[in-house]
Parts: sequence; C-alpha cells; structure tokens
Amino acid sequence: MTWRDVADPMLKVINVVGARPNFMKVAPLIEAMRDRPADFAPLLVHTGQHYDQSMSDAFLRDLDLPQPDISLAVGSDSHAAQTAAVMLRFEPVVLREQPDWVIVVGDVNSTLACALVCVKMGIKVAHVEAGLRSRDRTMPEEINRLLTDQIADLLLTPSHDADANLRAEGIPETRIRMVGNIMIDSLFKYRERARASTVASLLGVAGQDYAVLTLHRPANVDQREALSRIADALEEITRRVPVLFPVHPRTRKSIDALGLADRLAGIKGLQLIEPLGYLDFLGLLDTARLVLTDSGGLQEETTVLGIPCLTLRENTERPITVAMGTNTVVGSDTRRIIEAATRALEHERGTSAPSPPPLWDGHTADRILEELITAADPSRD
Ligand code: UD1
Repeated sequence: MTWRDVADPMLKVINVVGARPNFMKVAPLIEAMRDRPADFAPLLVHTGQHYDQSMSDAFLRDLDLPQPDISLAVGSDSHAAQTAAVMLRFEPVVLREQPDWVIVVGDVNSTLACALVCVKMGIKVAHVEAGLRSRDRTMPEEINRLLTDQIADLLLTPSHDADANLRAEGIPETRIRMVGNIMIDSLFKYRERARASTVASLLGVAGQDYAVLTLHRPANVDQREALSRIADALEEITRRVPVLFPVHPRTRKSIDALGLADRLAGIKGLQLIEPLGYLDFLGLLDTARLVLTDSGGLQEETTVLGIPCLTLRENTERPITVAMGTNTVVGSDTRRIIEAATRALEHERGTSAPSPPPLWDGHTADRILEELITAADPSRD
C-alpha cells in the first residue's frame, strides 16, 4: 500500500501505531479509508514501541491490518529516549510524505511524540480518544494525553465527559468532536470471529466460570508491596474461580526481578500464560465471569460485553465505564479486591446488562472520516 497506487487522493493520511493498545483503534480507520479510495490514501506507520511477536505482529494479523508502510523500529528505552527516538525517526517521514492529516490514537509515548513532530511542522494532527483524564500526573499516559490534546488540531472524543475535560482546559469548542469509541468498532467486527478461538478449551476453562487478569502499570507491577497485595487477593479469589493471567513482557520481567515468580506459581487456580493475540483474548473475555485489570481499554470492552470489571487502580480516565458500564475502581488493597470480586461473583451472570454509552456503536471510524473531510474543507460543514 503506497500513495503511488492511488490516483489523485483527496486526503493523504498517516496513521500511527506504536504499542499494543493502538492496533484495534487504527484498524477500523484503515479499513474505512480503504473503502473510500477516491477520498483517502492511508499510510500506516509503526513506531516499533512494541515489537514482540505477541505484542505487535499477532495484532496486525488478527485485525487484518496491512504490514506497516514504514517501520521506525524504536524499541524499548527510558521515556525520554523512546519519545525522542520516535520524534527523530518520524520527522523525516512527515517531511517526505507531506500528509494532509496525521492520526494518533490513545495515550502512549508514540502518540505524543508524533503529535509534537506534526505541530512543529504545521501538519494537521487528529487525536483519537482525546479528552480522557485520570487526574493522576504520576501516570506517563496522563502526561501524554494532556500534552497531545493541547497541540492536536482535531480532538476526537469517545464520550461527553471527555468533551467537558477539554473545555475545562480552555480548548476551543471548534477543535472538539464527540465521535464515539473506536475500539468498539473492532470489538463488534471481530466478536463473532473470536468465538471460534479455542484458547478457553486449551486452558481447560471452556464452559465454566473463570476470571481474566491483566496487569502492566508500573504502580502495580514494579513494586513488591502492590504486587504482593494483589497476589494475596488472588489466593482468595482462585478458591471460587480459576484466574487466567496473560502476562505482559514488562510484568514478566518485574515478577522475576521482585522474586515473586514462586509466590504466583504457588497459587493453585492461577494460570500465568503468554500474552494473547486480539482474537484469542476477545474470545476469552467474551465468556469470562469476571475481569481484573489495570488496563484502560479493558474497562471499555467489559462495559460493552456486560462483564463485571474490577479496575486495580486508584482512579480511571474512563469514568463512563463506572457510570454506565460494569466497572468498579478498587485499587490494589487486598480486602477491597476480594470484597468486590465476591460481590461480582455472587451477582448472577448477565444481571449487569450491557448498555453501551452513546456512539459506542461500531461506526466511529466513519464519523472520524467525515470529520477529517469537513475539517479539511470547512465549506462542507
Ligand atoms: C505501554 C504504554 C501504556 C500501554 C501499554 C500497553 C506508554 C507510556 N505506555 O506501556 O500506556 O497501556 O503500552 O501494553 O507509552 N517490552 C517487551 N516487548 C515489547 C514491548 C515491551 O519486552 O514488545 C518490555 C520492555 O522491557 C519494556 C517494557 O516492556 O521496557 C515496557 O514497555 P513500554 O513500551 O515502555 O511500556 P508498556 O509498559 O508496554
């Protein structure tokens, strides 16, 4: 896929992916643009922030994404070094390709780095999933969100609380558009296909109640105390349901470095497994009884799937998943986790009926494309 394949494209758009949670947000955009070749010429740039097969290639494949047109291969490093490397490698790409728009998604270091390159070059940048705020500035993602939203030209938000956050920061109304939740486009598209996944039976939990756990935030996995408190809670929860734990690479390293591998391996009913691809994970999620997580996206997916979610953090940038969804923010206190898990498991399956928030309807990509066209040619508004 290159622009040379396309005769006189109306809008040249660079779509940036960097880390695992970006792929399911960019896939619907690329697909929608490919369906409109007279209007859009998409290009996919992968910064390489995530690079393991299980964190990157598996997602390209599962989500029918093309191989990236350009790979920046930055890899892992300190925040400053990683952000700087993305900027240094992305700038010549933008200079050469001269896109009409660059789309960045989410809140990872690649998001901020690419937005910053564009704004300095006078290239228009749109931020998908704008306006979310945890109000916790110790989270690197919160800094990435705040700064990206200050500099991006078009802020495409998933919910009205995000609009309100942006207004409160003095961002003019003209830059804000509520378009809904792009992740849910992927969830609806692939839910049926994910049901064919055999991972639940391979793990021995098909047809029975089980919980899924994911952890990767530094606040949970880089500190022995926090991880131990969570392990204590798992000891109790696994007496009621088996818990499946696909382990993020940084978490795996941290478990080893903190000397907690034996402690976790000793919890009967807790299965530590390799990170799963998109379809296997969605398949596992869809029939889970309970989810425990510190991820952002999982709070949204469980809300739409109607599965109780316990967020093992002190705050969330996605309050709509608490107000309208199935999410409860419980932190990492052992007692609070056990109590919330017990309550969720006592609730009958399906009693928390899914009522997705407004515009979490599978059509966000189409709305985004319309906004790009309108913003490029305001006379169409
Ligand atoms: C990043 C994002 C986070 C997102 C998460 C999803 C930032 C600041 N953080 O966190 O918002 O929720 O991705 O996964 O952008 N590693 C590998 N292989 C990989 C990728 C990472 O082994 O493919 C290991 C490396 O040791 C690396 C560590 O994981 O140092 C952390 O990776 P990094 O990309 O810095 O941050 P994440 O914790 O993955």
